[in-house]
Amino acid sequence: MGAAAKTVCALIFITVLNVSLFRPTSSDPSDEACLTHLSQSIQDATKSLQNWTKSTFANPCSGFTSYLQGATCNNGRIYKLSLTNLALRGSISPFLANCTNLQALDLSSNFLTGPIPSDLQYLVNLAVLNLSSNRLEGPIPPQLTLCAYLNVIDLHDNSLTGTIPQQLGLLVRLSAFDVSNNKLSGPIPVSLGNRSGNLPRFNATSFDGNKELYGYPLAPLKSKGLSVLAIVGIGLGSGFASLVLSFTGVCIWLKITERKMALEEGKVSHLMPDY
Ligand SMILES: *[C@@H]1O[C@H](CO)[C@@H](O)[C@H](O)[C@H]1NC(C)=O
Ligand SMILES: *[C@@H]1O[C@H](CO)[C@@H](O)[C@H](O)[C@H]1NC(C)=O
Ligand SMILES: *[C@@H]1O[C@H](CO)[C@@H](O)[C@H](O)[C@H]1NC(C)=O
Ligand SMILES: *[C@@H]1O[C@H](CO)[C@@H](O)[C@H](O)[C@H]1NC(C)=O
Ligand SMILES: *[C@@H]1O[C@H](CO)[C@@H](O)[C@H](O)[C@H]1NC(C)=O
Repeated sequence: MGAAAKTVCALIFITVLNVSLFRPTSSDPSDEACLTHLSQSIQDATKSLQNWTKSTFANPCSGFTSYLQGATCNNGRIYKLSLTNLALRGSISPFLANCTNLQALDLSSNFLTGPIPSDLQYLVNLAVLNLSSNRLEGPIPPQLTLCAYLNVIDLHDNSLTGTIPQQLGLLVRLSAFDVSNNKLSGPIPVSLGNRSGNLPRFNATSFDGNKELYGYPLAPLKSKGLSVLAIVGIGLGSGFASLVLSFTGVCIWLKITERKMALEEGKVSHLMPDY
């Protein structure tokens, strides 16, 4: 092997090293699209988000360093987004799904409205989804089942409606699940309520505060029995009340007529000349 060949080899090696180690952080178009759309869909009225500007979206990460408040980077890509308790309003952009390396999404304790985008299904690495304590509406997208690594689904304290998708029970890694205090209805999927095989089981605290949700592990519907009792009670009570009322009415009427009669009698006796 000639010296020239050796030099070429060394040059190639150095170039490869350069590219991999000292590569200027080229902006990731997916992350940029994700952040741009998210910043448009949420309203930061209290101006609490630092560096959430167009120029930072183009380059939010440098290796493991993030320049964007709430974002954590891994190898130049955003892998955690945590914007909690910042009084954020607006909605969750479906383009959040463009942050394809996202493993944790925590937008809890804000005033976010609108639906949970079903596009979140494209976040195939997502392990933590915490959207609790917002004002989110609409159904829980069954497509979330496609995020096979989901460990945590915390959606408590929102205004979510519809049923809990059966499919969520297929998420074998799920270790925390909380949909308490929403407006969910229908049966609790057996796979979430009952332990079967190695699927986890969640207790009543995960489901409380949804008026029309029923099934194990929630206590059997006492409300129906109670309401029947209540209706009977109200019926009996009002019957008794009306009885008492009409009785008093009759008494008063009798008293009045008695008095009238007494008066008339008096009048009559007055008019009547005394003999
Ligand atoms: C963002 O996501 C949408 C829908 O999934 C896709 O059509 C689009 O190509 C993505 N954009 C980028 C820049 O990755
Ligand atoms: C905002 O960006 C500047 C410079 O790019 C950086 O020094 C600062 O730490 C960033 N702030 C946050 C909260 O990340
Ligand atoms: C979700 O966020 C809330 C508020 O920030 C926190 O209290 C709760 O523990 C989180 N849920 C999980 C399962 O970590
Ligand atoms: C779930 O568990 C409850 C209480 O142990 C039991 O009554 C019910 O039959 C179980 N349901 C299924 C489908 O296993
Ligand atoms: C329900 O489960 C949660 C978390 O798994 C636990 O902290 C809590 O003590 C349980 N509550 C009851 C009443 O068993």
